[in-house]
Amino acid sequence: MDENFDFGMVGLGVMGRNFILNVADHGYAAVGLDTDQQKVDALNSEGAGKQVKGTVSKEAFIKALKPPRKVMLLVPAGRVVDIVIEDLLPLLGKGDLIIDGGNSFYADTNRRSEYLTAKGIHFLGVGVSGGADGARFGPSIMPGGPKDAYAVIEPIFKAVAAKVNDEPCVAYMGNTSAGNYVKMVHNGIEYGLMQLIAETYDIMKRGLGLSNETIQQAFQDWGQGKLKSFLIEITAAIFKQKDPQTGDDLVDKILDKAKQKGTGKWTSQNAMDLGIPVPTIDAAVTMRGISALKDERAQASEIFNNTAPTTPATGQDWIGLLEDGLYFAFIVTYAQGLAQLAAASSEYGYQLNIESVARIWRGGCIIRAGLLENIRAAYVGDPGLKNLLLDKVFAEKLDQSQKGLRKVLSLAIENAIPVSGLGASLSYFDAYKSETLPLNLVQAQRDYFGSHTYERKDMEGIFHTEW
Ligand code: 6PG
Repeated sequence: MDENFDFGMVGLGVMGRNFILNVADHGYAAVGLDTDQQKVDALNSEGAGKQVKGTVSKEAFIKALKPPRKVMLLVPAGRVVDIVIEDLLPLLGKGDLIIDGGNSFYADTNRRSEYLTAKGIHFLGVGVSGGADGARFGPSIMPGGPKDAYAVIEPIFKAVAAKVNDEPCVAYMGNTSAGNYVKMVHNGIEYGLMQLIAETYDIMKRGLGLSNETIQQAFQDWGQGKLKSFLIEITAAIFKQKDPQTGDDLVDKILDKAKQKGTGKWTSQNAMDLGIPVPTIDAAVTMRGISALKDERAQASEIFNNTAPTTPATGQDWIGLLEDGLYFAFIVTYAQGLAQLAAASSEYGYQLNIESVARIWRGGCIIRAGLLENIRAAYVGDPGLKNLLLDKVFAEKLDQSQKGLRKVLSLAIENAIPVSGLGASLSYFDAYKSETLPLNLVQAQRDYFGSHTYERKDMEGIFHTEW
């Protein structure tokens, strides 16, 4: 099998296997490497009849590849990526290409790029979104690194990526870690949207006392309207799922402690470093943290005696208001993430094209949504758009739906339902559109206790007062 294969994959977990099968489906011979014989066997049986082969031998794997070799890693982010790279390096030649397809931290990608470039090896940090199904049948792919290195893999990525109106959901994002950075923010937005959906569910369940069946119907209907998106679609499906053991709705059996691998947290952390507000994403990360404090929550709930809803939730089209509110908050979440991307692009020199980002997020990825078509159009109209909230079409959408969110939030707050994501989205909007904020007082306080000085509205210069 020497030098017969077009593409190599290291890491044959479900994602790696599915991706390699997808590559083979598009006419490329693909070889996979894993230290786990069972995973190799799984690939060989799933790939029967295709131009696919798995091996546990790294020597056989490297030998099988046509030069310049294209080796993609789908292994857990972190140390494992470095270990795999070190393991393969002695076997690779100048001009070979390593592609890291995991959720690697962007700073790690910068470090690896420098290290490998010095050795004559090309390196791409590539965000891949869409979970196991996406990998198998068409993910959204966010490649970053040297443009000429991307050109080597571009035909394969274009072939395997999801398609929207025949356009592949892959585009060169920019230099160095641009691809990983875009994927990180994708995940930040993902965290935000998931939290908003969860809060909306909570309001329907605990605030309005609706049954799972009615909630299911609402998500199903919304998924066909302006909220059309993958996350709403899977939410509707989740509410249909029965627990095979008890016959009850499975969602009610699932422990309310959300885990996280870190990408949402990195988004928030880096947004703070850049000075870019992403409060909906911050709230989502915080709520995962609060969810983890299950025992403390149980203790506190005894003290504060959680009561059932006090507000009679009648006399309003709550489902319609919730739809508007969720739609409003969805838009604001995308706006925050994209504003972060624009800021990161100038800070790190990525030269991101936000329109391309919106285009490749329309299909394949977890945050795909009908809305992204409008978002793309907004950035086509004004590539330098500072914030989606400044786009006329979106301003109108937000204006029309803000009332819904205000009503929904009032109901939630009166009934002690936590709405950090929805609330943060509305406050972000209210603050962003307010020419006046009370931060003049904060400046006065800073000057009072620390002589930190302040500027004035009515004259130029830097001032200090002996308060
Ligand atoms: C994707 C997902 C994927 C992964 C999340 C889960 O785009 O396909 O984002 O990358 O499922 O990272 O993240 P948490 O474990 O942090 O929720």
